[in-house]
Amino acid sequence: KIMNQNELKRLVAQKAIEYVPHNTIIGVGTGSTADLFIDELALIKDKIIGAIASSERTKQRLEGHGIQVFDVNEVESVPVYIDGADEIDTEGNMIKGGGAAHTREKICASIAEQFICIADASKEVNILGTFPLPVEVVPLAREAVARQLSDLGGRPVWRKHADGTPLITDNGCHILDVHGLSINEPLALEIQLSIIPGVLTVGIFAQNAADIALIATAEGVKTISY
Ligand code: A5P
Repeated sequence: KIMNQNELKRLVAQKAIEYVPHNTIIGVGTGSTADLFIDELALIKDKIIGAIASSERTKQRLEGHGIQVFDVNEVESVPVYIDGADEIDTEGNMIKGGGAAHTREKICASIAEQFICIADASKEVNILGTFPLPVEVVPLAREAVARQLSDLGGRPVWRKHADGTPLITDNGCHILDVHGLSINEPLALEIQLSIIPGVLTVGIFAQNAADIALIATAEGVKTISY
């Protein structure tokens, strides 16, 4: 039977439960795949102490299942951070932020011993950048940052809701989606964009790349270690 994308996401969400250590606080990502993981996590919630959440959306879903959510300031490190991605390359570098949550996602990843990426095979790429790169910006710097991104050859588009109002992130900031970048050197570009004044966080995860990817295919879940 051919599985649709949602069934593939559920398959990989179930597989990720094998990577949850017991009696610890784990990091939980944001997005439709992470949502399915949270639902699976709820089934073993008595085995963990709790979680740190990469977004308000994830915090609400975790708490809705009765899983205790800790403030990141209360936690020194977590053994695993489990999250989806918008794109993942052959070395575990990712583009994230399609759900506008990449700042807190990167913070959670930075205090995790292992980043476990859960995705369906449609997220695999050779070179990052077909998915427009999300860049979270301080609102008053939006146009200044956009000009710098244009100078680098990108085409930044201010992310708005369907009704035309600007998207406001959990951090009170705006998102520029940068089209037309071919990201041949993910870490170099992550560093270069991160120092533009007014940039809060870039959606390239090279400094905080995946350690393991669980990729759902029609033949089952494949496990990649980087
Ligand atoms: C959230 O900001 C993103 O980084 C998500 O991890 C990404 O959008 C993946 O979401 P899906 O699992 O819904 O594809």
